[in-house]
Amino acid sequence: MEGFDVSLMLTSRPEIFDFEGISMVHYFTDDWENVQNFQARPDDILIATYPKAGTTWVSYILDQLYFGNTAPERQTSVPIYLRVPFLEAVIPKIPTGVELVSNLSTTPRLIKTHLPVQLVPKSFWEQNCKVVYVARNAKDNAVSYFHFERMNFIQPDPGDWNNFLQQFMDGKKVFGPWHDHVSGYWEKKQTYSNLHYMFFEDMVENTAREVEHLCSFLGLSTPTEEREKITKNSHFDAMKQNKMTNYSTIPVMNFSISPFMRKGKVGDWKNHFTVAQNEQFDKHYKAKMKDPTLKFRTQI
Ligand code: A3P
Repeated sequence: MEGFDVSLMLTSRPEIFDFEGISMVHYFTDDWENVQNFQARPDDILIATYPKAGTTWVSYILDQLYFGNTAPERQTSVPIYLRVPFLEAVIPKIPTGVELVSNLSTTPRLIKTHLPVQLVPKSFWEQNCKVVYVARNAKDNAVSYFHFERMNFIQPDPGDWNNFLQQFMDGKKVFGPWHDHVSGYWEKKQTYSNLHYMFFEDMVENTAREVEHLCSFLGLSTPTEEREKITKNSHFDAMKQNKMTNYSTIPVMNFSISPFMRKGKVGDWKNHFTVAQNEQFDKHYKAKMKDPTLKFRTQI
């Protein structure tokens, strides 16, 4: 990427193509051989999400749980996307995700992915790595993704809201259908006990409780005081102000269109969906989501 002119990139958007049965853009497939052959270590922790489900929030919490005390300079000078590399990403001006992970000198390595469960490099499962999956209710997830595509030039052009929503329902957004993504990891959890499945809405309702659950899953005995500090640092307003977590240092996003830390709310879909779109979405949702054990508290 040396010599790459980001300003040129900001004038064009990548094409979507079919990749192993899901919609992708080249920024997430350019390094596929290295991604597929990635050698996970048993103590690696994978944070997996559909885009816009709360990845950065949970990444920041995990990063503080492990490194908040031992590496305070990391908290003030290293952006979250370098601390918790995005495994499959090849983003202009920064090393590839695989290179970033390989360069991490800390243990455990915290790794982010948006890959659907069937495309996660096999070594994570073979090494029995801990996996934290965050799911967000479909409607808010769609709204957040729409605004993200508007402002992020490594994503395809979303068109207008109606166009975007149709593509979302058709499963044509980058990283594939939301329905298959959340269901795929849910199904995996039934046989793979090292997977902690959590919900964005639970985080909003009670972040401290969810941090505690994360600690139990990770086997951490983080003192209450420390957990309280982490919960406070991870509040939406604090993360929005924090240059290390608000993505203001990444070259491919235009915050004048929409900020990365946009609203952080449950139910913003009500400001976007028309009555007709909502009815169509609900009907489609019921047809796609077959497993009654996977329950989103705000799928209304
Ligand atoms: P909105 O666009 O609805 O505001 P991801 O990190 O997976 O890209 O997800 C981004 C979404 O999570 C954005 O949603 C962002 O505002 C929200 N988010 C990030 N940190 C948050 C926090 N601390 N509290 C609430 N929402 C947060």
